[in-house]
Amino acid sequence: MHNTSPARRRWKFFLLATGFSYALLVLIACTSVERSMVAPPKIAGATFVGSQECTQCHQNITGTFHDATHANLNASTNKATETGCESCHGPASLHVKSGGGAGTIVNPKQSPEACFQCHLDKKSEMSLPHAHPVIAGKMSCGDCHDPHKGDAVLGKGTQLASINDTCIKCHKAQHGPFVFEHEAVREGCVTCHNPHGSVNEKMLKARNQALCLQCHFQQQTGPGQILIGGVNHAPLLTRGTCWTAGCHSAIHGSNTQPYYFY
Ligand code: HEC
Ligand code: HEC
Ligand code: HEC
Ligand code: HEC
Ligand code: HEC
Ligand code: HEC
Ligand code: HEC
Repeated sequence: MHNTSPARRRWKFFLLATGFSYALLVLIACTSVERSMVAPPKIAGATFVGSQECTQCHQNITGTFHDATHANLNASTNKATETGCESCHGPASLHVKSGGGAGTIVNPKQSPEACFQCHLDKKSEMSLPHAHPVIAGKMSCGDCHDPHKGDAVLGKGTQLASINDTCIKCHKAQHGPFVFEHEAVREGCVTCHNPHGSVNEKMLKARNQALCLQCHFQQQTGPGQILIGGVNHAPLLTRGTCWTAGCHSAIHGSNTQPYYFY
C-alpha cells in the first residue's frame, strides 16, 4: 500500500543504479582479464561463460527469465558476455564443461550470500533479533522470492495471487477464515510485519500502539482521555500493548469476538 512512497522510489532508484553499475563493472571486467574480481559468488578456477550457455540445459528457466525482475541485470551488448544468470550463480565454466557436475555452481538456496552482494541491507535486517531463519539456513530467500520469473516478490502485481498467499503457505492459522475478520489482514501481512526481520517481537513494525494507529484514529479529548474507536483507552494503554494487555490478542481475526479479544 505504500508502494509509491518517495522513500521507496528513491531506494529503488538507488538499487537500480547500483545494479546497473554492477552490470557495467561486469562489462568492464569481461573485456579485461580479471573477471572474478567483481563476482563475490566464487567457484575456484571458473570463469564466466554468459547466460546464453545455460539455454542448452536449463530451458525451463531461461525461457521465462526475460520478464523477471532480475533480467535487468542482463547487459545487452554484443561486445561482452552477458552474465545475468551468473550474477547469482557465479562463474559457470567448470559447471558447463562438466555437464552440471556437483559443486561446480553456486545455489543461493543453500546460502543467501549471493543475494547479499547486492542487497546488503537485507543482511542487516535478517540479523536482527526477530527474523526468519534464513541466515541460519532453515529457509531461503527463494521461499518468498522468485528469482527466475515475473516479479521477484511472489504475488506482487498479479491478479491471481497476493503477497499474503506466500505467508499463508506456512502460517495457516493467521489466515482464517474467521467470523470476525480484521480488515487489516486483507491489506497485507506486511502492513504489520517486516518479513525480513525487526527489533520487535514477532517481527512487528512497531512495538506499541503506533502499529495500530497507522489506521485507527486516536483522539485526545481531554486530560487523561484517549479515545480510540470511541472507547477511552487511556487507562488501558498503561497495561501493555494493544495485543498483550489482555485485550486484542486475536488480532488476525476471531470466530467469537468482534473486537478480536480471543
Ligand atoms: C551441459 C549442460 C548444462 C549447462 C550448459 C548448464 N548446466 Fe546447470 N546443471 C546441469 C545439470 C545436469 C545439473 C544438475 C541436475 C539438475 O539439477 O538439473 C545442473 C544444475 C544446476 C544448478 C543447481 C545446482 C545445485 O547444486 O543445486 C544451477 C544453479 C545451475 N545448474 C545453473 C546453471 C547456470 C547459471 C548455467 C549457465 C551459466 C548452467 N547451469 C549451465 C547442466 C548444465
Ligand atoms: C537473482 C538471483 C538469481 C538469478 C539472476 C538467477 N538465479 Fe537461478 N537460482 C536462484 C535461487 C535463489 C535459486 C534457488 C531457488 C530456491 O530456493 O528454490 C536458484 C536455482 C537455480 C537452479 C536450480 C533449480 C532447482 O530447481 O533446484 C537452476 C538450474 C538455476 N537457478 C538456473 C538459473 C539460470 C539458467 C539463470 C539465468 C537465466 C538463473 N538461474 C538466474 C537465484 C538466481
Ligand atoms: C547483481 C546484483 C543483484 C543480485 C546478486 C541480486 N539482486 Fe535482487 N535486485 C537487484 C536490482 C538492481 C533490483 C532492482 C530491480 C528493479 O527494481 O527493477 C533488485 C530487486 C530485487 C527485489 C525487489 C523486486 C521488487 O519488485 O521490488 C527482490 C525481492 C530481490 N531483488 C531479491 C533478490 C534475491 C532473493 C537475490 C538472491 C537470490 C537477489 N535479489 C540477488 C540486484 C541484485
Ligand atoms: C518470509 C518471506 C521472505 C523472505 C524469507 C525474504 N523476503 Fe524479501 N520480501 C518479502 C516480502 C513479502 C516483500 C515485499 C515487502 C513489501 O511489499 O512491503 C519483500 C521485499 C524484498 C525486497 C524489495 C523491497 C525491500 O524491502 O527492500 C528485497 C530487495 C528483498 N525482499 C530481498 C530479500 C532477500 C535478499 C532475502 C534473503 C536474504 C529475502 N528478501 C527473504 C518476503 C520475504
Ligand atoms: C517457507 C515457510 C515460511 C514462509 C513462506 C513464511 N514464514 Fe514466517 N516463519 C517461518 C518460520 C520457520 C518461522 C520461525 C518460527 C520459529 O522460530 O519458531 C517464522 C516466523 C514468523 C513470525 C514470527 C513468529 C515469532 O514467534 O516471532 C512471523 C510474524 C512471520 N513468520 C510472518 C510471516 C510473514 C508475514 C510471511 C509472508 C511475508 C511469512 N512469515 C512467510 C516460516 C515461513
Ligand atoms: C494489524 C496488524 C497485523 C497484521 C495485518 C498481521 N499481523 Fe501477524 N501479528 C500481529 C501482532 C500484534 C502479533 C503478536 C500477537 C500475536 O502473537 O498474536 C502477530 C503475530 C503473528 C505471528 C506469531 C504468532 C505466534 O503465535 O507467535 C505470526 C506467525 C503472524 N503474526 C503472521 C501473520 C500473517 C501470516 C499475516 C497475514 C495473513 C499477519 N500476521 C498479519 C499483527 C498483525
Ligand atoms: C491496515 C490498517 C489497519 C491496521 C494497521 C490495524 N487495523 Fe484494526 N481495523 C482496520 C479496519 C479497516 C477495521 C474495520 C473498519 C473499522 O471499523 O474501523 C478494523 C477493525 C478493528 C477492530 C474492530 C472494532 C471496530 O472498530 O470495528 C479492532 C478492535 C481493531 N481493528 C484493532 C486493531 C489493533 C489492536 C491493531 C494493532 C495491532 C489494528 N487494529 C491495526 C484496519 C487496521
